[in-house]
Amino acid sequence: MSTGGSWVDRDAAVVWHGFTQMASWADNAPIVVERAEGRELIDVNGRRYLDAISSLWVTTLGHHVPELDAALTAQLDRVAHTTMLGNGNRATIEFAEALAAVVPVDAPHVLFASDGAAAVEQALKIAFQFWVNQGERGRDGYLALGGAYHGDTVGSLSVGAGGFGTDLFDPLRFPVVRAPGYDQPDWLDRALVVLKEHADHLAAVVVEPLVQGAGGIHVAEADHVGALGAACADAGVLLICDEVATGFGRTGSRFASEQCGLRPDLLCLGKGITGGYLPMSATVASGRVYDAFLGPDLSNRTLYHGHSYGGNALAAAVALRHLQLLDEWDVMANVAARSSQLRAALDARIGGHPAVRDVRVRGLMGGVELAPPIDGLRWGRRVCAAAVSRGVLLRPLGDVVVLMPMLTSTAEEIDRIVGVLAAAIDEVCE
Ligand SMILES: Cc1ncc(COP(=O)(O)O)c(C=O)c1O
Repeated sequence: MSTGGSWVDRDAAVVWHGFTQMASWADNAPIVVERAEGRELIDVNGRRYLDAISSLWVTTLGHHVPELDAALTAQLDRVAHTTMLGNGNRATIEFAEALAAVVPVDAPHVLFASDGAAAVEQALKIAFQFWVNQGERGRDGYLALGGAYHGDTVGSLSVGAGGFGTDLFDPLRFPVVRAPGYDQPDWLDRALVVLKEHADHLAAVVVEPLVQGAGGIHVAEADHVGALGAACADAGVLLICDEVATGFGRTGSRFASEQCGLRPDLLCLGKGITGGYLPMSATVASGRVYDAFLGPDLSNRTLYHGHSYGGNALAAAVALRHLQLLDEWDVMANVAARSSQLRAALDARIGGHPAVRDVRVRGLMGGVELAPPIDGLRWGRRVCAAAVSRGVLLRPLGDVVVLMPMLTSTAEEIDRIVGVLAAAIDEVCE
């Protein structure tokens, strides 16, 4: 049953949704949003849903935040967008200055784009050219982890581990040296061996620090990720930290790299960068990397890469205000409190359920892995549909129910999410 009435039909007639089988889209009870207030979405029929996936992990403080709305409209009075190719924009400079002051990157320079995948793509190309510019030939490989997800463009898909039905693109993906992912207890030891073996032809190692998100919310010990970073430095291989999902407070610190004691050569940001308002992503390069691209005008040391909407002024104005609000509202303190509450509530009400294999939480990134007795039961999808029918918007990754509450969530909202999930599991997983 669809909840959006004729809007679903109108949508199906002209829209193609990503990661969605359109032949059954209308049968999977999609909600069609008309507006939002705070952490609630309101659909075209006036029904309210608590947005417990933060609109695919992008919304941090809430929808329709007066302070962010004001920043956006103030910038609209100046200019919406001007190109960053060869020229600059005041709003973008102001945001880049503020970002440079807080990123865990030495002497940072920021290259903007619009999507997380593009931020990763940029980092891969920068890492490759970094070595070329210094006359080091043969450093054209990447080491990435099992279970990794870095986006859907061909380059980011290549460093990703596959899955999600994307295996048919394998002939397009370039080969990558692969070490196990965070779901393997010995992932670090094996990654260190692989790194040592391949160090002299690697351009970079790519990791999602602390949490592998789209791979199923698999978590690592911070000091293990830190140890991999240190080994990269020892081996002289660049470290790319993909914080598209973990950045901007998601894991309890502004950046997950900070908890791991990492100072990456390249840091990829996206999703929460504008608090979920506008598409913006960024690749932050360290001074060492950036300096390798300096040379005569029009020389081949230049990075010949850039996107039309990179550094969009509206997005930059919102992103700047968002960065300020993270501090002004002491959002990290709320993430810490709500994270402990979420962990305790999941352990108490869901952890021991026979249909649940594992519960994983870091900050306000949570995954409840279901344990269907046979294939094909679609428990993940059906549990989330049961939660949606109770007014809490959830979306699974296979049989992992993802919990991604907004960073400003209240104690009552966390309680409600866990209560609804427990009821949904009881209903579906007999
Ligand atoms: C770690 C990570 N990198 C990159 C991406 C791709 O970001 P986008 O969907 O904005 O292209 C994602 C998206 O989930 C992600 O989780």
